Amino acid sequence: MNKFFTVVLALVFIAVCSVVIVADVHAADYIGAKKCKACHLKQYKAWEKTSSKDYTADPNCLKCHTTGYGKPGGFTSLDETPKLTGVQCEGCHGPGSEYVKIMKKDKKYKFADVKALGLIRPSEDEKGCMVCHGADSPFTEKVDARYKWEFKERLERTHKHFPLKYAH
Ligand code: HEC
Ligand code: HEC
Ligand code: HEC
Ligand code: HEC
Repeated sequence: MNKFFTVVLALVFIAVCSVVIVADVHAADYIGAKKCKACHLKQYKAWEKTSSKDYTADPNCLKCHTTGYGKPGGFTSLDETPKLTGVQCEGCHGPGSEYVKIMKKDKKYKFADVKALGLIRPSEDEKGCMVCHGADSPFTEKVDARYKWEFKERLERTHKHFPLKYAH
């Protein structure tokens, strides 16, 4: 009997822990590019130059032309989330509300710590790009060769890159 309860307790403990971990990851919200601009002006200015028109009037376009559509804290409508139109920083780097707290506190943060809170290094996550650039996009190389997807070349073209000051 004792052994049985130990096993049950252990299972309950594991279940509670995983719920807490999952809840933590999902707690991150999208905060909008203006918040990143404060500390990343150079990337912001370079990103601004990439075209980003507003297709928020047509529900069929939202998944790929807004930031965080259908995700917790992401774009819902122009009225409710006017700051999350277009493909912003968090479309590629993940929702920022939690990892930004670490960046704010410690410029020399450990990459593993911000990653655990949702930060994405795009070079490690081609799948994240394919949610929008994949086969269901209306703009693929079948339409025009200029929409051909080459991961490396695309990584370069997202915005101009500047070396980080610290090793993380
Ligand atoms: C599944 C994702 C997806 C959906 C849905 C989607 N788009 Fe796009 N759209 C893209 C991607 C990805 C690009 C960029 C293509 C590239 O540069 O290779 C793009 C680019 C565009 C462009 C720019 C083309 C150019 O060459 O300048 C326009 C205009 C556009 N989309 C309009 C729309 C409209 C309007 C809708 C809704 C009716 C829509 N898209 C729905 C993914 C999508
Ligand atoms: C939420 C959907 C979405 C995601 C995720 C996404 N893109 Fe895009 N991408 C687009 C759309 C839409 C465009 C067309 C321009 C625009 O509206 O910003 C585009 C355009 C581009 C362009 C051309 C920019 C220009 O001005 O010519 C590059 C390069 C690019 N994406 C690279 C990437 C890479 C690399 C990733 C993954 C790290 C990625 N994208 C993830 C939707 C997305
Ligand atoms: C379309 C995808 C995409 C978008 C949108 C995007 N980034 Fe990036 N970002 C990248 C890629 C690719 C790298 C290079 C690192 C890598 O490949 O993992 C990067 C790197 C960075 C870096 C590291 C230093 C550097 O310059 O390489 C910072 C800081 C950064 N981005 C901030 C931003 C901010 C702030 C925004 C919004 C204003 C933004 N990014 C929008 C794809 C994107
Ligand atoms: C309070 C300032 C601050 C804010 C706000 C901020 N960051 Fe950062 N971020 C930093 C610092 C500091 C670094 C490390 C810079 C260095 O090493 O040169 C960094 C690094 C990064 C990196 C590089 C990650 C790596 O280690 O590869 C990315 C990507 C990034 N930030 C994206 C964002 C995005 C997206 C936002 C908005 C959602 C944002 N940051 C908001 C301060 C900030």
